[in-house]
Amino acid sequence: MANTVIPKELVDKIVSENHLSNVGRASIREVKKLINDIEAASGTRFIRMEMGIPGLPACQIGIEAEIKALQSGVASIYPDVYGIPELKTEIARFVKNFLNISVRPTSCLPTVGSMQGSFAAFLTISRAQAGKNTTLFIDPGFAVHRQQHAVMQIPYESFDVYNYRGEKLREKLEEYLSKGNISSIFYSNPNNPSWICFTENELKIIGDLANKYNVVVMEDLAYFGMDFRKDISKPGVPPFQATVANYTDNYLLFISSSKAFSYAGQRLGMMVISDKLFDTEFPNFKNYYASTGFGHTMIYGTLYPLSSGTAHSPQYGLAAILKAVNDGKYNFVDEIKIYAEKARRMKEMFLNNGFHLVYDKDEDENLADGFYFTVGYDKMSGDELLKELLYFGISAISLGITGSSRQGLRACVSLVPMEDLPELKTRLEAFRACHQ
Ligand SMILES: Cc1ncc(COP(=O)(O)O)c(C=O)c1O
Repeated sequence: MANTVIPKELVDKIVSENHLSNVGRASIREVKKLINDIEAASGTRFIRMEMGIPGLPACQIGIEAEIKALQSGVASIYPDVYGIPELKTEIARFVKNFLNISVRPTSCLPTVGSMQGSFAAFLTISRAQAGKNTTLFIDPGFAVHRQQHAVMQIPYESFDVYNYRGEKLREKLEEYLSKGNISSIFYSNPNNPSWICFTENELKIIGDLANKYNVVVMEDLAYFGMDFRKDISKPGVPPFQATVANYTDNYLLFISSSKAFSYAGQRLGMMVISDKLFDTEFPNFKNYYASTGFGHTMIYGTLYPLSSGTAHSPQYGLAAILKAVNDGKYNFVDEIKIYAEKARRMKEMFLNNGFHLVYDKDEDENLADGFYFTVGYDKMSGDELLKELLYFGISAISLGITGSSRQGLRACVSLVPMEDLPELKTRLEAFRACHQ
């Protein structure tokens, strides 16, 4: 192949040394390591779009509050498993201010990142009702949630939602829920990787069916506020972040601090359980736990043996961030809007060079510009496209590892500096010249 950015033989050699028979099937962390190796061997910096790391500095309010907390001596003290009162109160205020949903502070729990929250929830919910142990993923999704199921041997089913948008979603969900084995529905919104956002109509369908079939909806709001088509940044003022919690009491929300507050390193997520679910008794828990109340079991049955709570100082950090946000003193959405501008410009470059968007609409509306977008090229499979782009110094992940039924790649904008955009354009032009 002529005019690649990195010699093909070198890329192929390093792929082989990494024992990756198909790069498209590699996990995100494996792709990251591969790119590090190719960069080191070739001396060429990649346009890195594989990993969803926040590309912004952590919120300073949190850092300062953490330093203060550490200096006051919290490092030597075990935090309570259910979280410090200041944080629980601010989470409940945040949920009221930005989702317009009321929950007690008791029902708001800190977890070691959203990842621990989902691990704990999958484990607990799959044991709540006899015969109902299977999670339904509305895909595409984040591969690590599948991995959590594999580790715990919890069964799951899934479907790619793109062909079942709008009213079609009802029939598709009923097909699964009517079988009686589904304990919960899980999805991220905005969606990683496709960046689709459910419409209010779709959220109502999910909520109504959760009520009808008595299943728990787990809504992953890792990209809170990042449907930048509407500005949800004013506390207590509509519009609010869209949520299924408007349509069912049978919900559990995961709100990550990693992207919204660029706080990924401190591994602090929020699990928000509806008050009704928190208080619900599940007699089947008796087979695994010492208690039957959902909230009590989540805290003392699952979170306690997992990590005995979350680190102390990050809880003070997040409490301070949320307080500033809730008081209207810190506009977190303004801080992260840069992702939308980057996505807009990057998408344009891909489209100008013969690529197409794989997921492009929320019903009849164009997708928002945000943290991720998806691209395909001609009839190439996602796995092939990923491999081909490596020769041009561009990395991403294949949709093949996300439960997607479509061919293409997920591109993450966060780690691409604005000043690298001209280089991205040049490399995409080189790619196109080789593939026409
Ligand atoms: C959909 C989704 N859920 C959860 C997470 C992880 O969140 P946390 O860093 O809070 O564990 C991510 C991170 O990329 C994600 O994309």
